[in-house]
Amino acid sequence: MAKKNLNIGVVGYGFMGRTHANAYHNAANFFDLPLKPVLKAACGRDEAKLKAYADNWGFESTETDWKKLIARKDIDAIDICTPNNSHAEIAMAAARAGKMVLCEKPLSLDGPEGEEMVKVIEAAKVPNTVWYNYRRVPAVTLAKQIIDSGKLGKIFHYRANFLQDWTISADLPQGGAGLWRLDAKAAGSGVTGDLLAHCIDTAIWLNGPLTDVTAMTETFIKERKHTLSGKVEKVKIDDACTFMGHFANGSLALFESTRYARGHKALYTLEINGENASIRWDLHDLHRLQYFDYSDEGIVRGWRSIHVTDGDQPYMKNWWVPGLQIGYAESFTHQVADFIRAVGAGKPCSPTFREALETQYVCDAVLASAKSGKWVKCKHSTKAKAGKK
Ligand SMILES: NC(=O)c1ccc[n+]([C@@H]2O[C@H](COP(=O)([O-])OP(=O)(O)OC[C@H]3O[C@@H](n4cnc5c(N)ncnc54)[C@H](O)[C@@H]3O)[C@@H](O)[C@H]2O)c1
Repeated sequence: MAKKNLNIGVVGYGFMGRTHANAYHNAANFFDLPLKPVLKAACGRDEAKLKAYADNWGFESTETDWKKLIARKDIDAIDICTPNNSHAEIAMAAARAGKMVLCEKPLSLDGPEGEEMVKVIEAAKVPNTVWYNYRRVPAVTLAKQIIDSGKLGKIFHYRANFLQDWTISADLPQGGAGLWRLDAKAAGSGVTGDLLAHCIDTAIWLNGPLTDVTAMTETFIKERKHTLSGKVEKVKIDDACTFMGHFANGSLALFESTRYARGHKALYTLEINGENASIRWDLHDLHRLQYFDYSDEGIVRGWRSIHVTDGDQPYMKNWWVPGLQIGYAESFTHQVADFIRAVGAGKPCSPTFREALETQYVCDAVLASAKSGKWVKCKHSTKAKAGKK
């Protein structure tokens, strides 16, 4: 019997518009899903670029106004792939119209805006998820399984970096297409909401909630020409951010992100040190998980590099044969597959809006601490997550 369709409307045809369209195709082809994702409509403001995107990825139709997309009866789910300052308005309108919502990260510009979004999405009782895709890189999912099995014992340290180098030139303008990340009005913050949000989401998922933080941020280039106004304007985003903190389980946090680490393009690394074992992961070698187990016999004890490609490792039985690896794009495919399975089972797909709000609260605390120079306590979005030290 033919599967029921899940009609998707994607808003935004940029970087994420492409990764998501690719993911809907691949999820249907590689995973046995209860519903068939259908690329029903693509939405964007530039008609010619939108048509090229829609034709390339096989969308059935286009809309140049997201409000019209949301009003359509033949759309079941709205997928938001637009800059951060548009997430709240589109997500809340979609939820109020009874649509499922898949929203790119960060959830919102800040915690208070995220709270509004959570209120609306929960009142509407529609399935929802936020695209913190790194949770679904098989090696990272395997790290979660290893940590949850208790193999690491008591956790002492969680360390994460996300390093890039693309904004070093003072000639780079801010704002507008492609450069909205440098404009605080569109992005909310700089590396904190863009890059550290990923590190924070993974950390909370792997190691539980953060309780308090102390941070410093820097804006190396203080003024840039704004693409839209044509004028030189103050740069209000953080170019670099470093923070320390405590997790509720007593472990220490050390996080760094910058767009000024010459030579690094997207070096997301994380390391967790426990009393019995440690784990290390690196986005540039994303299909491997480094693992050190102190209980190994002394003569063979050392870091092992687990090539996460076997059928009994997360997600991998759906792909090729053992030994053949997958990449970045597949983390989105996994999120589509998990979302559709969750919809079929009537369960939430993590991270939900409420779970993503927890990350927003940590970002708020980090930025507040950088401003005040003081330690700041993190708010919590769920009682379960707040935990006790
Ligand atoms: N999960 C990840 O790893 C990841 C990676 C990159 C970006 N993101 C997030 O995805 C979102 C989009 O980022 P991107 O890199 O794809 O940006 P992008 O600049 O490549 O694309 C943004 C798209 O949104 C469109 N857009 C802007 N305002 C619109 C509106 N009002 N109506 C319709 N379309 C509109 C733009 O024309 C463009 O097509 C951001 O929130 C970003 O933080 C997540």
